[in-house]
Amino acid sequence: MCGIVGYIGSKKATPVLINALKKLEYRGYDSAGIAVFDGEDIVVRKVKGALKALEERISKEVINGSLGIGHTRWATHGEPSDVNAHPHTNLSGTIAVVHNGIIENYAKLKAWLQGEGVVFRSETDTEVIAHLINYYYEMDGDIFHSVIEATHRLEGSYALGVICSDYPDRLIAARKESPLIVGLGKGENFIASDVPAVLEYTRDVYFLDQKEIAVLYSDHVDLFDEDGNKVIKQPYHVDWDLSSAEKNGYAHFMLKEIHEQPKALTDTMRPRLVYENKKPVDINFDELTVAEHFKNAKRIVITACGTAYHAGVVAAYAFEKFARIPVVVTVASEFRYMNPILDKDDIFIVISQSGETADTLAAMRLAKEAGIHVIAITNCVGSTVSREANDVIYTWAGPEIAVASTKAYTTQLMCLYLLALKCAFLREKFSRAEYTRLLSELEQIPSKVQEILDDKTGIQKFVSKNFNKEKVFFIGRQFDSATSLECALKLKEVSYMHSEAFAAGELKHGPIALVDKNTLVVAIATDPKLYEKIASNIVEVRTRGATTFVITQDKDGAFAQAADEIVSIPHTESAFASMLSIIPAQLFAYYCAIHRGTDPDKPRNLAKSVTVE
Ligand code: G6P
Repeated sequence: MCGIVGYIGSKKATPVLINALKKLEYRGYDSAGIAVFDGEDIVVRKVKGALKALEERISKEVINGSLGIGHTRWATHGEPSDVNAHPHTNLSGTIAVVHNGIIENYAKLKAWLQGEGVVFRSETDTEVIAHLINYYYEMDGDIFHSVIEATHRLEGSYALGVICSDYPDRLIAARKESPLIVGLGKGENFIASDVPAVLEYTRDVYFLDQKEIAVLYSDHVDLFDEDGNKVIKQPYHVDWDLSSAEKNGYAHFMLKEIHEQPKALTDTMRPRLVYENKKPVDINFDELTVAEHFKNAKRIVITACGTAYHAGVVAAYAFEKFARIPVVVTVASEFRYMNPILDKDDIFIVISQSGETADTLAAMRLAKEAGIHVIAITNCVGSTVSREANDVIYTWAGPEIAVASTKAYTTQLMCLYLLALKCAFLREKFSRAEYTRLLSELEQIPSKVQEILDDKTGIQKFVSKNFNKEKVFFIGRQFDSATSLECALKLKEVSYMHSEAFAAGELKHGPIALVDKNTLVVAIATDPKLYEKIASNIVEVRTRGATTFVITQDKDGAFAQAADEIVSIPHTESAFASMLSIIPAQLFAYYCAIHRGTDPDKPRNLAKSVTVE
């Protein structure tokens, strides 16, 4: 996720762009840049660091010009640096581009453009777009057609702002999947990734639809479809205030991030799937230098903290089930003092949203000192974990602002499932037919997450009656017991309700002594083989007075009689259901926090990134 802005009008573009970018810093803050047409040339200024660094860089110069684009970056391809910061230009500097999204076929396009003589300066996927537009521009000299031709060749997601020094009267914008709006002013017009960037100037906006293209002039805006046919639509008048606009209309970042999961999961998964005839047939981790190592490894060792650790616990079930390889998962704060037994044939995986957690770093360094190859799964490009690990798999979830992790967790799971399936295939644990069947199932996970998010009424109603329970226990078996850990953590983090997770079979060995009428027991049940077992556990706690809530794929079966409330999740391969069953639990935690009057975005005593021991 990054933030893009653009301006055309009669004011000086630079302060308008900087001002607009300030409202988008929550979308990315590792580097920033602007490109402004000064009457002769396009002047580009871009620096690593927060927007303040860019402001300092340009504070001593005057950049004239009333046409410009700007960007605040959340790195995906290439570490945060001056050169990787946007805008990117063609070689002669006459075309400048800002981009939000991921170009999935950028490596292929880059190789092809290099063959055409283009010398790349950055490691970004975005630079490809600038050269691609230039390629078509050199052929027909029409910037609008060149942008259309270029977008036809792009796979993945993009919101683009493009300026060209031969066309100082216009700014071109295009989008597919990544958000983009056009702000309509008087004698001036704007583009931005999100409404807050333009609210100071106008409340009339177009929300660009899929594959729409906008051409902005000072006094009007033309809209087109992907083939250049004119589109007519009505502007939308924004009546929300600034703070809700930053959250895209959601009351909290946590809720917004919960809703971003279908997109984040798609961004994480799709670039790594290999398609034939539009069907996924393989998984490709370009970033892994040791993919073959998965074939012969004897063991997988995973270490992480908090939510990332819980992703590791789910992954252990996935690797063992699919690839039949033993897995050890340890919290990093324990691992670092364990004098761990490590072997050069181990695959060592660290998971960290921030890439800065002190214990996780210490655990990783221990493995590196032992000469073990480290694979990191992280959301933050340029983080310490990403710099020190041997291989890095990015979750590409975009910045997560709420302290309680939601989309970072599910995208970590997605990376780990992809790894587990690839590992299983390399180890010949299933046929190609089974492999492709599983990949097709996996591919549907984002849309199934969306289905759950589309109907939250059952959860909201249940929470309104149960948000003041004294204690909440989450139970499950196998994958579901791993998911329960994360469910209980989410609830305690944001609502401060006392919550615990148990493997359902352990209830009888102690926890059931705590069960009474002030107890809520939430059961996760996604494996048909274990439905009856979980149903018995529910009966046991219900007879002792507990209220019961079941998250399952089996709404009308084993639980229909036993549970007080059932939330059904769409059917999927039961081993993949962890990416679905967590969603109602995240919502449950969020709504409990709201009913109890706590701030889900900033829970007491907790920090987003724990950089001290
Ligand atoms: C803190 C955060 C958690 C996170 C954990 C590990 O406790 O509040 O949300 O899961 O750190 O963080 P990491 O950035 O390493 O995933």
